[in-house]
Amino acid sequence: MSWLAAYETVPGEGADPGAVVAAGLGALRGQMRWHSLAVLHNVTQPVLTTAWLAHAVTSLYNPNALWDLVSGGYLDVERQVVRQLSRLMGWDAGSCDGLFTFGGKAGLLYAIRLGLNRCVPDLSRSGLGGASPMVLTTDQNHYSVDSACSLVGIGTDAVIRVPTNSRGFMDQDAFRAIAEEGIAAGRPLACVVLCGGNTLDAIIDPLQDVVDILDDLAVHERLGYHPWIHFDLPLGWPWLFFRDYDFATNPLGIEEHGLAAAGQIAAALARAELADSTCFDFHKLGFAPYSGSVFLTRHWRELRSIFRDEQTPQPWLEHGGNFRQHHSIEHSRSGAPILAAWVVLQTLGQDGFRAYLGHLHQLTARLRSRIAQADMTVLNGASPSLATMVLPARPGTPVSHVRELPAQAEAQNLYTEALFRYVAGMDGNAARPVAIGFVPGYAKTGSGHSLSALRLFLVNPFLDAGHIDAVVDHLRNLKRDFDQLGTHGDVAGPAPRLIHTPK
Ligand SMILES: Cc1ncc(COP(=O)(O)O)c(C=O)c1O
Repeated sequence: MSWLAAYETVPGEGADPGAVVAAGLGALRGQMRWHSLAVLHNVTQPVLTTAWLAHAVTSLYNPNALWDLVSGGYLDVERQVVRQLSRLMGWDAGSCDGLFTFGGKAGLLYAIRLGLNRCVPDLSRSGLGGASPMVLTTDQNHYSVDSACSLVGIGTDAVIRVPTNSRGFMDQDAFRAIAEEGIAAGRPLACVVLCGGNTLDAIIDPLQDVVDILDDLAVHERLGYHPWIHFDLPLGWPWLFFRDYDFATNPLGIEEHGLAAAGQIAAALARAELADSTCFDFHKLGFAPYSGSVFLTRHWRELRSIFRDEQTPQPWLEHGGNFRQHHSIEHSRSGAPILAAWVVLQTLGQDGFRAYLGHLHQLTARLRSRIAQADMTVLNGASPSLATMVLPARPGTPVSHVRELPAQAEAQNLYTEALFRYVAGMDGNAARPVAIGFVPGYAKTGSGHSLSALRLFLVNPFLDAGHIDAVVDHLRNLKRDFDQLGTHGDVAGPAPRLIHTPK
C-alpha cells in the first residue's frame, strides 16, 4: 500500500509541521538523483546549487512576476536576461522582449498565437472566423506543436509535418511544395516551427533555406505578411555560446571530438537571428530547477498585443506601471525561475557553458566507441547529439545485422525493452542498476519496422573518462547477467516504475 494512503483525507486538525514535511518528502522515494553519475537517463541535468538557492529564497519572499509593484526588482532581472539571450540570438536587444514561462510547450503556444495574429486579422476579438490556418514543421519536431495547435483552437489538423530524410533533415522540395499548395488554396500560414536541436539527434532545421524558399514563393507579397518563424531551442540554446567561439585557436582547450561536435551544432545555428521567436529551457542543460523556460521574440510590440490590440507607447513604464499579465500566458508568475536563470548565467559565464558542452561531447565520443565494442550497436553515431542511442544484441544475433533483419524486429524490441527494465532497475533484479532511458520506435529497419533503442544521455558535468569506461563495463556485465537469466522478451511484470535511486 502506498505511504500516501494514510493521508487520504485532509485532517480535521493540523499535524506537527516537521512530521508533515518529513512524511511528504516520502514523494522522493524512487526519484532519480540527477547529480548521480549513474543517471544517464535524459536531458535533465543536476541543479546548480546557487540556482537552487536563488529559487528557494525567492519562493520564501514570493514575488509575483505579473506586476513590477509586487515583485521587487525581478522584472528588471527578467528584462536583463531577455537582453542577454536576445544578443545570443544575434538580435538587437532593444527591439526584443521575452517572458519566463512554464516550458518549451508554452514557447510554442506563444509563437503560434503570435503567428496567428499576423495572418488572421482581428483574431483577438472575433476569433478565427472561416480561416483555416496551417502550421508547418517537420516530422522530427516535438509533439508539443500539435498540443499547442489544439490549445489555440486551430486543431491538430492545422499541423503539416514536412517529411525528412533518413537522417532527419527536412526535405526542402517537400517544404516548398506544401507551402505553395496551402497558400494557393488560400490557407493562412500561421507559423513555421523549426527545430534548433531535437533531443535525441540534435537535428537542426535549415532556417536560412526556409526563409529563402518563402522569399522565392513571394509569400510576403502574396499574403501581406511574413509568416512567423519559431526556432525551437529548448535544448539547443546553450550551443549558441559557441557562435563566436574561436574554434581555430580553441582558447578553452576543448578536446578534438568535443570541438568537432560543438562546431557542427554551432554552424547549424549560425543564422538563428532570422527567427521571429525562440524558447530556451533552463531546465534542460541550463542547470536550473523546473520549470524555467524563457520565450523570446524580436518583436516586442507584437508580444504586447498578443491577446488584444495594445498601443503601447514604449517598452517599459515607470515602476509600478508594468503589468505583464496582459500579454503573458500565465496570470500569476513565479519570480524564482527568473532569478535561477540569471544566477546560472552569471555563475557559469559563456566559457562555463562552452567548457561543459565540449567536455560532454568528448565523453559522448568515448562512450560511443566503447559501446560499439560491447556487443551493442550505436544507432546515431553520425549525430553530434549528447544522446547515444543503442541497440543491444540479442543472444546469438549479430547485432550489426539487426537493421537488415526485419522479421526479427519484434523479438528484438521485446528483448531491448526487457533489458532496459533490468538495467534500469525496474524489475528489481539487477544489483547495481543504471538509470538509462528507453525509446520505443526510435529507428526503422530496412523494411520499415520500428526498432526501440536504449538511450544514454550525458549531461552531468562531473562525468569523466573513467566513469564512462566503468559504466560501459558495468552495462556489458549487466547485459551478460541478463542474457544468462534467459527471460528475454518477457516484458510483463510490475508497472514500469524505477525502484532505485542511484547515488
Ligand atoms: C524541441 C522541443 N520542443 C519543445 C519541447 C517541450 O519542452 P518542455 O518540456 O520544456 O515544455 C521539447 C521537450 O523536450 C523539445 O525537445
